[in-house]
Amino acid sequence: MRPFIAPSVLAADFANLQRDVEMINESEASFIHVDVMDGVFVPNISMGMPIVEAIHRYAKKPLDVHLMIVDPDRYLVRFKDCGAAHITVHYEACNHLHRTLAEIKRLECKAGVALNPHTPVEFLTDIIQDVDLVCIMSVNPGFGGQKFIEHSYKKIERLKKLIVETGSSTQIEVDGGVSLENAPLLLQSGADILVAGNFIFTSKNPIETVNKLKNIA
Ligand code: DX5
Ligand code: ZN
Repeated sequence: MRPFIAPSVLAADFANLQRDVEMINESEASFIHVDVMDGVFVPNISMGMPIVEAIHRYAKKPLDVHLMIVDPDRYLVRFKDCGAAHITVHYEACNHLHRTLAEIKRLECKAGVALNPHTPVEFLTDIIQDVDLVCIMSVNPGFGGQKFIEHSYKKIERLKKLIVETGSSTQIEVDGGVSLENAPLLLQSGADILVAGNFIFTSKNPIETVNKLKNIA
């Protein structure tokens, strides 16, 4: 199956966001990945609701909103109102993950859980049936353009096994350092959605780069 591609606008030109969102619209991307960082959960601050809302105004693809923030429950309704289709929270930022996921679903969004590189996929064993997507962080969250962590392949394989064993329909997303070089093995390991920021936006022809990732198999 061809992967879903989610370009990360963290690597876009924020002074030309409309242009870059329109580039994604014209490509074979399935989602627009939007990274929200609070400077507390991660050592960086990226964008908040006004920017997400502005992206949504021009987006023709669903917004895949990745919340790298503490206590995300406080903002779920606001991100839904800004146009999020997927809301992904961090396992490490939620004390009551089951409740948080239920709230995201009540808002009629797809509920995602992101795992930092040090968090084992087995921590999701008792909740996998309630998760629409798991985002495997293949870098430490906080910045674009970092080096892909090779151990991620093994995590994806173990997560895929867990999903198959439990008969759940959870999708596997990979986020961080994704390129045409590691994409084939990521898909082989079980990934469904590839997030890519710098690899797309620093390339000469970003639309072509998205389409190459999409048609890699
Ligand atoms: C990292 C973010 C990623 C980032 C990916 O904290 O969650 O979505 O934008 O960027 P690249 O593809 O450049 O590693
Ligand atoms: Zn992300």
